[in-house]
Amino acid sequence: MKRVRKCVFPVAGMGSRFLPATKASPKEMMPVVDKPLIQYAVEEAVAAGIIDMIFITGRNKRSIEDHFDKAYEVEAELLARGKLELLELVQGIIPKHINCIYIRQPEALGLGHAVLCAEPVVNDEPFAVILADDLIDGEPPALRQMAQVYGKHECSVLGVEEVPRENTRQYGMVQTDGEEPGAVRAIVEKPSPEDAPSNLAVVGRYILSPRIFHHLATVQAGAGGEIQLTDGIAALMLEEKVLAYRFKGVRYDCGSKLGYLQAMVAYGKKHPEVGAEFTAYLKSI
Ligand code: G1P
Repeated sequence: MKRVRKCVFPVAGMGSRFLPATKASPKEMMPVVDKPLIQYAVEEAVAAGIIDMIFITGRNKRSIEDHFDKAYEVEAELLARGKLELLELVQGIIPKHINCIYIRQPEALGLGHAVLCAEPVVNDEPFAVILADDLIDGEPPALRQMAQVYGKHECSVLGVEEVPRENTRQYGMVQTDGEEPGAVRAIVEKPSPEDAPSNLAVVGRYILSPRIFHHLATVQAGAGGEIQLTDGIAALMLEEKVLAYRFKGVRYDCGSKLGYLQAMVAYGKKHPEVGAEFTAYLKSI
């Protein structure tokens, strides 16, 4: 069996829902307490045994590359001031055995197209996809749970959760055979509540068979005029098993203002440095 060693992070999106905050800096660099969203995503991938982090970037995304690179000036300054704990923190953002690979997506043609951009690096291996704006607080981390499901069934695995019917227009929605994990029988991108096959939504975690590339290269533009990952999965599902797995954990939709604020409160409350004081503050207001 091939292990899942590569993870794709599509980070080329514009982040229009957070303008003006995202005018000059990427949405993936927005912090939840003191870490940017993309760092939570990479940490989750590391916990799942991923070695190669493949970022699909675009214009205005330099700071993501800088974040995972050596920062000579910051490090020299911290050393000179004897701030060794902070120095360790900055140097330990990414473990030494991890590779960071950056691929430019010249045009925002959709999530499916972003994933297809990773093909020259992924080749014929199974791989993971994490959408950093879906922040998942899980133990073990959600992608690790999914890697275990992959290890057992050796097929594509989608991370899913139930959402209110009125929100189906925000997600890829699936229908399964009812088992846990369930074999995916149908998947539709952003259907209306009446057309949704169920209330099970795919959230930003995928383990995919490399056969998906063949389908992404041939699918037509779908919902919103974009090449949709969901449409590629719909084609894949006809020739290979695809499982929907309800991960254990709480997901925060940090692509929306409300979800982002909820994440900030949840992570703030359990933060080792400020958690107790912040919790007391929340009680007081
Ligand atoms: C994307 C996918 C969608 C999925 C969602 C999860 O949509 O296209 O299938 O359910 O992520 O967050 P987006 O949020 O980029 O519009």
